[in-house]
Amino acid sequence: MSTKGVRDFRPKIHFTPLNNWSNDPNGMVYMDGFWHLYYQYHPERPVWGPMHWGHAVSRDLLYWEHHPIAMHPDEMGYIFSGSMAYDKENTSGFGKDGAIPVVAMYTSHRPEDRHECQSIAYSLDGGFHFEKYYGNPVIDNPGLSDFRDPKVFWNGKRNCWSMILAAENCAFIYASIDLKKWEKTGEFGRKENLVESTWECTDLFPLQTEEGEKWVMLVSMMARPGKGCANIQYFIGEFDGNTFHAKEQGKEPLWLDFGFDNYAGVTFHNYDKPIYLGWGVSPEYANQVPTGEFAGLMTVARELSLIKTEWGYRLAAKPFGLDRFRAAAYPVADGGSLISECFGLKVHGQSGKIIFTNGKKQKLVIEIEEESIRIDRSLAGASDFSEKYCDKLHSVGETKRLLRGDVDMELLFDVSYLEVFADKGLETASMTVYPDVPFEKISIQGNLTAQIYQIQQ
Ligand code: FRU
Repeated sequence: MSTKGVRDFRPKIHFTPLNNWSNDPNGMVYMDGFWHLYYQYHPERPVWGPMHWGHAVSRDLLYWEHHPIAMHPDEMGYIFSGSMAYDKENTSGFGKDGAIPVVAMYTSHRPEDRHECQSIAYSLDGGFHFEKYYGNPVIDNPGLSDFRDPKVFWNGKRNCWSMILAAENCAFIYASIDLKKWEKTGEFGRKENLVESTWECTDLFPLQTEEGEKWVMLVSMMARPGKGCANIQYFIGEFDGNTFHAKEQGKEPLWLDFGFDNYAGVTFHNYDKPIYLGWGVSPEYANQVPTGEFAGLMTVARELSLIKTEWGYRLAAKPFGLDRFRAAAYPVADGGSLISECFGLKVHGQSGKIIFTNGKKQKLVIEIEEESIRIDRSLAGASDFSEKYCDKLHSVGETKRLLRGDVDMELLFDVSYLEVFADKGLETASMTVYPDVPFEKISIQGNLTAQIYQIQQ
């Protein structure tokens, strides 16, 4: 049964737009104790359309204050995805009377012929109002059909700005001293790309390990080999100041998520650790989700790190900023009641199943085995709003475990979104689910124990 319009599927601690359509997180920047999130926004309907940058601000990444639209489409086209540079030293020269410029770099996408080039805009009031640069575009299209999603970062190796963007099926890297004039310094992916897919939303950032600094590159891909699902691939390697070299890679591509609903994710600028947000709905059916007045959400904020496994380093993700709720966790037994629609669950043990059920006999099943984890959403709620939503590829998310021994899992459930972090966050799954009525009971099978904590405003 479809639940379209039947009940409110709006998550409580995950970012959603007040109304209408949202997709990728954009321009994420941490400034003076505030997290600024801009996002791909169509303010007229809950489906994709002319892209604006919506804007929201948070102190804790859980509760967001909505602000007026930061950027509207213009004569150069829609405002596609991009990022922010907090220009403390006023390298851009946009600063005036001591105000620090915050510079947005984004793709101008011309809808008539899909021409894409890179533009900038600056704000002198801390990211609320933006003035577009008269010299746009700052990087013109070199003759490519897809050329978008610039992610700017400070390049300590060359003491300049660098930027990575998605160019057809690889990434280009550029450098600049003033955010206006850019030179191309490298390319990555033509050789390494094992997947025939357009690249989108690339990101590049360093992480510390016992073996020193390593760089991680993220790239969103609509097609995942053998599975066909949209997902984020990552590479681990070195950034020499000009280009990226993958080092840790075996033959198999590495994927960020074994669920279906985590796409176009990147990290915040100007924070000392990489904090990640992704778009929490698969682009494959995001236009059809049964959420009524709004469409789209962001994942919970996640801190990324690299952990050494027997297969080499792998990316791990952990929910960020939930400690105060976690501290009040209490044991929950098989058959226990779920008293709210927004909670965390910590699960320990060897193997077994966690099942959430409701009075409509719907169920969401998380199965843990010694070597694998499976999540089955096929009977968890509405699915007929899209042919793809619960087809063969999009019903059961499964992964091999990267650590041996008892599982240590944390699971977040928020009305219509499930996130699972297992084995120190090395295995992560994100999934939308649309149960007709809230899940009421938890069943805990096998030799698993669980603790629950409530997450409230
Ligand atoms: C990824 C994406 C980006 C693009 C934006 C348009 O979901 O396709 O590549 O900039 O969305 O909304």
